[in-house]
Amino acid sequence: MDSILVTGNGALSGSIPIAGAKNACLALMPATLLSEEPLTLLNAPRLSDIRTMTQLLQSLGAEVSALQDGKVIAMSGHGVDNPLAHYDIVRKMRASNLVLGPLLARLGEAQVSLPGGCAIGARPMDIHVTALEQLGAVIDLRDGYLHAKAPAGLKGAEITLRFASVGATENTVMAATLAKGTTVLKNAAREPEIVDLVKCLRAMGAQIEGEGTSTIVIDGVDRLHGATHRVVTDRIELGTYMIAPVIAGGEVELLGGEIALVEALCEKLDAAGVAIEQTNAGLKVRRKNGRIQAVDVRTEVFPGFPTDLQAQMMALMCTAEGTCVLEETIFENRFMHAPELMRMGARIEVAGGTAKVTGVERLKGAPVMATDLRASVSLILAGLAAEGETLVNRVYHLDRGYEQVEQKLSAVGARIERVQGQ
Ligand code: EPZ
Repeated sequence: MDSILVTGNGALSGSIPIAGAKNACLALMPATLLSEEPLTLLNAPRLSDIRTMTQLLQSLGAEVSALQDGKVIAMSGHGVDNPLAHYDIVRKMRASNLVLGPLLARLGEAQVSLPGGCAIGARPMDIHVTALEQLGAVIDLRDGYLHAKAPAGLKGAEITLRFASVGATENTVMAATLAKGTTVLKNAAREPEIVDLVKCLRAMGAQIEGEGTSTIVIDGVDRLHGATHRVVTDRIELGTYMIAPVIAGGEVELLGGEIALVEALCEKLDAAGVAIEQTNAGLKVRRKNGRIQAVDVRTEVFPGFPTDLQAQMMALMCTAEGTCVLEETIFENRFMHAPELMRMGARIEVAGGTAKVTGVERLKGAPVMATDLRASVSLILAGLAAEGETLVNRVYHLDRGYEQVEQKLSAVGARIERVQGQ
């Protein structure tokens, strides 16, 4: 297993290009199942999760090929004939569950393995199941698989999600595009990745209104045609790299960045003493002056502070002046980076869903363990500011969600390299 070696090297400067959004792309790719015609995605990120989704869609009979070094994904759902999403693939990546709605809509049936828990939580699928049953699917859980059938096709319905689940919103919206009649989806997730998915579905001929609000209305159509869609910028990669010049010092321009994608983060960084400037090319970020101030953060569904940036913010707060409280309300176990940061000298007290962080002048490099995607990058951020060397182990987590981390950070002056696994 590879590791990443980071050596605290002072201020950063230069620019970092931000890729297309992993979490948008992982919802956009299953949309190819809804149509027999070609669907092409531009600005796709080059990540192992995208390769996993590619394998899954191919196993269902779709054609998927990566062009232009993976930045273009050319797909066709023409040959889709297999409703089985096998455990061997699904267990590697929870987002595999996003084929459930499209398979039901296209084939009238689906057998999708439950993803199983992951490091950050149990991650059940009850909200997905309840919503799809309201569209007329009959779903039961047998031998670890969701067996779903809709022999008479899906029928529009008025659905209220008990929680604004991103994945459940995506599965339901995709299924409803081919249902008979109108679906009104209430308490829908509002994330930019949902907005991007709806833009793509609309380009394919779907009739959808309300994306980005809590109520999405879908008028079912008989069929969807092909389209070409550009994947939206990754707001989590953007937010992650915005924190790099703040924790390490210096100024970095995030190419393709827009404040609208990271408003909640910008509010917190502004309060902490960070200058953020929108330029024609992206976002310029640097400390206003001196030390960063501690600010409290509570993760919430969009447009609140994203849970996927909580670990990165915690790393920053470890070197801020003062004490703050980070509250994680989305996942039940998303503080595994805390003990690793404490190995670097951070002062963190975790109690259930809250973590109290008291800033220290400087962290000290140490060998640490990545436990999940966002935790791994928070340890790299901490390593940029720490004294000495930080060796982040198990970086396969990292490669799932961040393309070319070493290259992007080295280009702005970080001392970072990949150490081949023994
Ligand atoms: C998406 O996961 C993202 N993944 C996650 O990003 C992100 O953290 C999450 O949304 C929240 O923003 C992708 O888009 C591929 P949820 P998803 O359904 O859809 C509970 C990353 O780092 N829940 O909004 O799975 C669930 O357990 C990943 O890129 C149920 O209880 O998230 C969690 O506590 C990590 N029942 C909460 O809701 C359900 O049926 C939010 O889950 C579904 C979810």
